[in-house]
Amino acid sequence: MTGPAATGIGTAGRVDLVGAGPGDPELITLKAVRLLEQAEVVVYDRLVNPALLHHCRPNCAQIYVGKRKHCHSLPQARICELLVLLGRQGKRVVRLKGGDPFIFGRGGEEIDALNAAGIPCALVPGITAATGCAAATGIPLTHRDHAQAVTFVTAHRRDGKLALDWALLCRPNHTTVIYMGLSCLGEIAVGLIGHGLPSATPVAVIANGTTVRQQEVIGTLADIAWRVEQQPLPSPALLIVGDVVAARGQLTLPGSESGRALEMSSAVSNAAPVRPLSSRVG
Ligand SMILES: C[S@@+](CC[C@H](N)C(=O)[O-])C[C@H]1O[C@@H](n2cnc3c(N)ncnc32)[C@H](O)[C@@H]1O
Repeated sequence: MTGPAATGIGTAGRVDLVGAGPGDPELITLKAVRLLEQAEVVVYDRLVNPALLHHCRPNCAQIYVGKRKHCHSLPQARICELLVLLGRQGKRVVRLKGGDPFIFGRGGEEIDALNAAGIPCALVPGITAATGCAAATGIPLTHRDHAQAVTFVTAHRRDGKLALDWALLCRPNHTTVIYMGLSCLGEIAVGLIGHGLPSATPVAVIANGTTVRQQEVIGTLADIAWRVEQQPLPSPALLIVGDVVAARGQLTLPGSESGRALEMSSAVSNAAPVRPLSSRVG
């Protein structure tokens, strides 16, 4: 990705793809902060906490290219072109992306475009939403007694249908983290039950994880869609499915002024009465 071969053009700048972490502005690497401090241009996404831009120099150009579902301020191809253009102009660019650029972040496409254009680039990883949200809610994604494997998937559709590997997600002793699944929560729950997961499998839906706006709803596959109907959650949100959700610990947030303890034990058993699945989903 980097080095003399990639440099090609004498005056080429460089473009570093940098993970901004899941929302809490302290969940960013020292390397990312250093690159932000040195950048001449920052190209950033919707899920990047704007507080991170305070690390930039006053004369650093800041370009927003955020995307919302069905509403892209700049299509991906144009973002790639923009990065190449800035690199060719000799700029030192930070491409700041929510979470980790290589986890459902289209970082691979941007690296490909930069490589093809001979622009030096590197990647700085970030804390992805799955690990950020898990830490912020006390849910261990793996656990000796409950899950020996974890899978990250995105709930994208192919020909209108959810394109998920149901057999993989329904394995025993396994945790599934689903990105971009809030809008099809009911369909996911029905699919997992239909493919063999017990309807009592615990589920957490976490919105704005790691931020002061964090919200979460805990339930089971049988009732999670109904619970979220009762307590609608904003985007971004992700789902954690598996017995680890019931193994939540009790956390005291570091640095929180009140020393607020998150009451997390027995979250599932404390949940409100359950309505039958058939009346709510599908
Ligand atoms: C396009 S993906 C980008 C993921 C990002 N690259 C990462 O590593 O976290 C966006 C999805 O990530 C999840 N997400 C990102 N930040 C989140 C947060 N703070 N809380 C909950 N989910 C989040 C949501 O599922 C959201 O729809």
